[in-house]
Amino acid sequence: MRQILVTSALPYANGHIHIGHLVEYLQTDIWVRFQKMLGNRCIYVCADDTHGTAIMLRARQEGRSEEEWIAEMSEAHQSDFAGFGIEFDNYGSTNSEENREVCNEIWKSLRDADMVVEKEIEQLFDVEQGTFLADRFVRGTCPKCGSEDQPGDNCSNCNEVYSPVDLINPVSTTSGTKPEVRKSIHLFVEIEKLHDFLAEWTQSGTLQKESANYLKNFFLNQPLKNWDISRPGPYFGFEIPDSPGNYWYVWFDAPIGYIGSTAQWCKANSEQLDDWWKNDDCEVHHFIGKDIQYFHTLFWPAMLKTANFNLPEKVHIHGFLTVNGEKMSKSKGTFIRASKYLEHLNPSYLRYYYASKLNAKVEDIDLNFEEFESRVNSDLVGKVINLASRSAKFVAQTGLSQNYPDDGGLFEEFAAAGDKIAEHYENCDYNKAMRLIIDLADKANPYVEDNAPWELKKDPEKASELQDVCTVTLNLFRQLVIYLAPVLPDITAKAGELFGEQLTSWEQSKKPVTGIKIGKFKHMMQRVDPVRITAMIEESREESEASAAASTIPATWSDDDAALQAEPLADEITFDDFTKVDLRVARIIEANEVPEARKLIQLKLSLGGDETRQVFAGIKAAYEPQDLVGRLVVMVANLAPRKMKFGVSEGMIIASGPGGKDIFVLSPDEGAVPGQRVH
Ligand code: MSP
Ligand code: ZN
Repeated sequence: MRQILVTSALPYANGHIHIGHLVEYLQTDIWVRFQKMLGNRCIYVCADDTHGTAIMLRARQEGRSEEEWIAEMSEAHQSDFAGFGIEFDNYGSTNSEENREVCNEIWKSLRDADMVVEKEIEQLFDVEQGTFLADRFVRGTCPKCGSEDQPGDNCSNCNEVYSPVDLINPVSTTSGTKPEVRKSIHLFVEIEKLHDFLAEWTQSGTLQKESANYLKNFFLNQPLKNWDISRPGPYFGFEIPDSPGNYWYVWFDAPIGYIGSTAQWCKANSEQLDDWWKNDDCEVHHFIGKDIQYFHTLFWPAMLKTANFNLPEKVHIHGFLTVNGEKMSKSKGTFIRASKYLEHLNPSYLRYYYASKLNAKVEDIDLNFEEFESRVNSDLVGKVINLASRSAKFVAQTGLSQNYPDDGGLFEEFAAAGDKIAEHYENCDYNKAMRLIIDLADKANPYVEDNAPWELKKDPEKASELQDVCTVTLNLFRQLVIYLAPVLPDITAKAGELFGEQLTSWEQSKKPVTGIKIGKFKHMMQRVDPVRITAMIEESREESEASAAASTIPATWSDDDAALQAEPLADEITFDDFTKVDLRVARIIEANEVPEARKLIQLKLSLGGDETRQVFAGIKAAYEPQDLVGRLVVMVANLAPRKMKFGVSEGMIIASGPGGKDIFVLSPDEGAVPGQRVH
């Protein structure tokens, strides 16, 4: 039995999980489920990656504390993952005490190994936001080729790598202002001290060939650059204990989050952290995307090595998702959130489709929705589920035959294929595993067609033949489901109900079941409905547009509580109390000075049709009557009329503010019409 610790990259807490992320989390979940089915002692840990400038600015933008924001994102992430059947043994946060402790330990080891140096560096500072700017928050003109609007770290036109301070005409993408160059002290890790170790380790078979080759270049006749791991405050992260005012850069504490999350799991399960991270018998497997390999194949092993933690046995690197042959696009509606997918489609479809595409190479994979539909419908529904739906009902009364009938060698053939399928899972060649499984299904289906249980059913004398045919068919179905179980946990659970035993072990595929009762066949999976695909894409497009429009509002708020202090919140009321107030949209059709009154304007409000109201509003200091005519307001329409010196006031219009010039009349959004009730 192997002992295996598996991780996926820790998703950033500044955004929602989308179908691109799911490539990775599904790839990993499938691998973990497979290992568990083999009986290996395997745990899968992950966490939200919560620190950094991006999250700090995002929380500010939402007018929330960072803690509040990351708690909400964590909940959303976990619910998306659960919706797709992605099962972690622990899902933590890099902003946890467990993580801080491990950071301290690794930091101490780096200090002890004399690998930390200080240097003053120049960085761009956003004066308006009061923060230094991470590379990706700056754009400007490339210092080499002069190409405009380039990111802060490297040019997309000529590939030049530079520092953001070298950009010509830099602009902060968060405030739109021109940042200043400011100096500050940063702490660096000298990973060059591990040059030889890393040069060897990266070529030791831990990495895929493409990735190992890519890294070779880093070591050829050049020292490794020092790694800048600190940021001056304000920064959302952990303050460096022996360098007050400086914080660990998010990429320092993020991978340590793998260990922090394991520590949490250990606490909850009375296990020892060292048994998982300082134990040669434990294999650590990381699953990551190609964009973050640099961090995982240079910095991370350097940290682990220095602090005497296990080095990864394998770093499994996958490519990026494209949709219909292109990068995911908000305007095309192919930037699809996990939660949006779940509103429309069965998660098993995507699990199977990705499995049928994923291989062990660092290669992009394409989600083509036509292929998605046809693969799921023809392979899963047409070839696999169909086996059960065409046989289970005929043995609902009798159960399976007492002895396994002659099937011409099919069961044995299926059982023999198990090793090869397992090998493909182990190597992350899921596409090959799926191919083999569907090839088997292609052998099971002719068996059913040739023996036509639905015909046998018509002849009472053939009852025992019918039972035998269904016994074979259901056993073949059962083998296929076991092979698909890492990919399709939901179908596996339903099949388990049919056979009266959960299908949790690879071994179960080796021996047929006989003489057992068969549960009532319940529908296991619908065909893909293309209408739902279209709807999902359309809604994703609309929602991206809406949020793009919303993000043009200012990036920061610093609302204080003066208004609340001046007027504390009122006592609670019931909903019924609220509905007593009849609020209506109204249009101001006349507005006149009331010469004798200092504060009042006389308004004539239309509720539509002939329905009008006269209202005296105390807004003279704030509005000119002529500016009010034509605009929509909200009025209290059922307020008892009040006799005033100048006439009867038949209601009130809604406004906020302390009074005088500071009065703000509320108006409905565009589209509202007079007479509408405000709920
Ligand atoms: N927070 C870092 C990882 C820290 S690990 C110590 C991060 N987060 S992320 O949310 O941007 O991405 C999480 C994972 O999802 C990464 O491995 C990334 O490669 C992967 N993917 C994000 N978008 C993807 C696609 N469009 N396609 C495939 N995988 C993608 O990076
Ligand atoms: Zn350039």
